[in-house]
Amino acid sequence: MHALAFITLLGTAFAARPWLYAPDTGADIRYTELDIASGELPPINEIRCLDDFEWAARNVLNSTVMASIANGAGTEGSYRLNTEAFQAYGFRPRTMVDIRKVNETFKTSILGNNFSMPIFLTSFGVATRVHDVGEVGLMKAAADQNILYIVSISAAQSQEEIADAAADGQVYFQQFYNQGWSDEKLQAYLDSVKKYGAKAIAFTIDSAGDGDRWRAARWDVGSGDSETTLITWEFYDKLKSMTDLPILLKGITTVEDAKAAVEHGVAAIYLSNHGARQLDGAPSGFETALEIHEEAPEIFQQIEVYADGGVRSGGDVLKLLSLGVTAVGIGRPFLYSLVYGTEGVIKAAEILRHELTINAQNLGLASLGDIDSTYIKRRLFAPL
Ligand SMILES: Cc1cc2nc3c(=O)[nH]c(=O)nc-3n(C[C@H](O)[C@H](O)[C@H](O)COP(=O)(O)O)c2cc1C
Ligand SMILES: *[C@@H]1O[C@H](CO)[C@@H](O)[C@H](O)[C@H]1NC(C)=O
Ligand SMILES: *[C@@H]1O[C@H](CO)[C@@H](O)[C@H](O)[C@H]1NC(C)=O
Ligand SMILES: *[C@@H]1O[C@H](CO)[C@@H](O)[C@H](O)[C@H]1NC(C)=O
Repeated sequence: MHALAFITLLGTAFAARPWLYAPDTGADIRYTELDIASGELPPINEIRCLDDFEWAARNVLNSTVMASIANGAGTEGSYRLNTEAFQAYGFRPRTMVDIRKVNETFKTSILGNNFSMPIFLTSFGVATRVHDVGEVGLMKAAADQNILYIVSISAAQSQEEIADAAADGQVYFQQFYNQGWSDEKLQAYLDSVKKYGAKAIAFTIDSAGDGDRWRAARWDVGSGDSETTLITWEFYDKLKSMTDLPILLKGITTVEDAKAAVEHGVAAIYLSNHGARQLDGAPSGFETALEIHEEAPEIFQQIEVYADGGVRSGGDVLKLLSLGVTAVGIGRPFLYSLVYGTEGVIKAAEILRHELTINAQNLGLASLGDIDSTYIKRRLFAPL
């Protein structure tokens, strides 16, 4: 081998593996004619996967709005790993199973409320900057798909406006941050949450400090909870005494805190690192679910467990379900799909439902409830 060729090879081997925001699905070469400058989007019926929405959004949202969504804390190492962690685990598909009706087994109970599938629309606050329909559009899409929507406390539209958009009988939850309010203000807020009709409160516990978001800071678009915040069991107990709505804890990242939540009789736990926007290095919902599965698997029987972070396909959802997770949250992809308005969010949910169906079929599941941890395995040649 020529010395030069050898050095080139070495260079390739040692070069940092470039991180692509999303897989290349051919959009770049398919849509060369799009008038991106005037905000033209690919036809919605040509959106093939959730990552296509990110491609579309990247072309039409300005840098400020895009940076407020597509950012993670610090080096963005956890942001990358949230999506990439799923690649470290492969499937163990079974064959000779009648899988034709697996799509009829998706019904999921979340705190006693029935939804059409174990996938939900989670909390984020910048919806109106992506599309005028904002949270109202998200609520309508959730109704159309009969999936749970957890409305963010940082929503731009009012509680009343968002609640008015809910369909008859539609169940949604309200996300909450401790903002250091007086007891009076807190009580009034909790009462309003109940009055408008949310059926549970998701108390976000992963943002005691401000998120150290370098990219977001470049564009001056920080966190919805940028103050130093008191998040303690005492505060949780107080919150619990002030409302009869069930309170779930969003932002559990360790088996210790999961156990503590069970001991405190918490309604449910939500494994999440806040889309990797708070602490660079914090584990994704998938990594935390693996930790609990290894160290205290009984927790999945003791309490409902939800998880999010980097979920971009029906296959990712299946990997979380295999560990005992009840329902899986999706953040950024739904936000990107909102560039098409309500219709886009519906389309994103339909894509997930379709992917969940065909992936479950190829995995050999007659019923979604048949999945367990024997359906996944740490890969021999994991990229991580
Ligand atoms: C733009 C944006 C805003 C967010 N705002 C909130 C929020 O107001 N409250 C909250 O608990 N989590 C918030 N999150 C975190 C999400 O609820 C969720 O945990 C995370 O987005 C899941 O990861 P994913 O985006 O990879 O699906 C936000 C995330 C993003 C991307
Ligand atoms: C499941 O898929 C079949 C077609 O493959 C369809 O006829 C049926 O309506 C679907 N059921 C549900 C609950 O979506
Ligand atoms: C949810 O569905 C079950 C049947 O699977 C039913 O018994 C129950 O009443 C439903 N719950 C609600 C709140 O509709
Ligand atoms: C970016 O878009 C948002 C939402 O449309 C708008 O409010 C903001 O002014 C825009 N910023 C710039 C720099 O164009």
